Amino acid sequence: MFRKISGSSAFNSGFYLPALIFLFLTLLSGVWLRYQWTWPGGMIFRADFLIHGHSHVALLGWVFLGLMGMTLESGTDRRRLPFRFTAITGFLTAVTTVLLFLAFVRDGYAPASIILSTIHMILGYILAGIYFRCTSGIARLADRHFLDGAVFWMILATAGTWMLAAGQGLSPFWMHVSVRFYLHILFFGWFMFALAGFACRYMAGPDQKSETWPFWLMTAGLLPSLLPHLDPGRYGAWGFTGDLPWWYTMAGTAGTLLYGIGGIAVLFMLFRSGYIRSVRWRFPILLWTGIAGAAFVFILPVITSFPAIRGIWMQSDFLVIGFIHLHLLVTVTSLLLFMLLNRRIIKGPQRYFGLNAGAFLFTTGNVAMVLLLFMTGFFQIAGILPPWPVQKMLFYTGSVSLTGLGMLLLFPQFILFSKRL
Ligand code: HEM
Repeated sequence: MFRKISGSSAFNSGFYLPALIFLFLTLLSGVWLRYQWTWPGGMIFRADFLIHGHSHVALLGWVFLGLMGMTLESGTDRRRLPFRFTAITGFLTAVTTVLLFLAFVRDGYAPASIILSTIHMILGYILAGIYFRCTSGIARLADRHFLDGAVFWMILATAGTWMLAAGQGLSPFWMHVSVRFYLHILFFGWFMFALAGFACRYMAGPDQKSETWPFWLMTAGLLPSLLPHLDPGRYGAWGFTGDLPWWYTMAGTAGTLLYGIGGIAVLFMLFRSGYIRSVRWRFPILLWTGIAGAAFVFILPVITSFPAIRGIWMQSDFLVIGFIHLHLLVTVTSLLLFMLLNRRIIKGPQRYFGLNAGAFLFTTGNVAMVLLLFMTGFFQIAGILPPWPVQKMLFYTGSVSLTGLGMLLLFPQFILFSKRL
């Protein structure tokens, strides 16, 4: 099947096409969850299992394959890249994710889903190996720093999962640390570093490309910025009981601040280069929404790193889920989709009303959903019942996003198979 594979078809069949299908499945499962909670008569799937299916297909299907494809395509020397092997590994990752989704929805965390997650991790290591064997670009430039860093964080994040698997007798505190470590390094390391790498490679001017200090700030801040997410005081771990000492809090805030300043510096560099504004990008709504989302993703953790504020913030599930979707949907998904849609020439996009309307609906639904989650969270903290039917409204906003994405995906020939830029 992969015999006569060319570079583009390797990435399309092994990475981008499955990634886009997984994005659709992510939105469909998310909207279905809201549907079940709005009209419990339609309860078909066990909600907690479906949440696991939704989050795994989102992280390991859509974001992993989309980012990995882009990282391999833009960060390696195509002449040295083993296209056939890369495509087969990508394709196997996609098949594993389909099985993983089914296993999670059927049984939740059970032997089958755990074995499949492990296979997914191993395939991830193989793809990381291919990347490091074939890297291209000038090593001292910012984009190479960010892309190398992203793949490194992707591997390191899995240390959390191995710790969970290895330590049967792990204390509740260390189980909590393993999960937090995995998610934190995945979301803020792998995902954000890869996006910063693409931004530096494709959108920064020549002067900005050699500025690596934002990379070093983000790198220095990443691990300490995990501290506010851990609560050793609550578990009586590390000799702490109750309130944490000032230096622990300071170290956490300093980490989030370093990371946030590095991230905001990347955004500033993009504006300073002027290039980002001079190009006629397709679907600029995705780019600007993603950049606005990224600014919040860099700033909000600094504010919530203070224990007093964090204590209040964590009281509301809506704020927690709202921030996760601000990060993963409004920021990572918008920017990744933007990158994929701008990979190829779409002839006369203005004529394809369906595509532009799709991008508009998708973005509107996403932003409305996150705003609604945040507003509901603030009402929840204030102890006031929100004056709107929360689950129903969230179902509607999700449906708008899903419709927009459906319209975009109706035209795959323009996204994947048109001429390369
Ligand atoms: C229309 C789009 C989406 C809808 C309607 C939606 C809906 C939901 C719902 C209902 C939950 C469970 C919330 C709860 O436990 O109270 C959830 C959780 C989650 N979603 Fe989404 N989602 C969408 C898009 C995405 C995307 C694109 C991603 C990632 C790329 C994502 C990642 C996650 C994750 C990781 C969780 C688990 C959070 C946790 O358990 O802590 N979602 N989503």
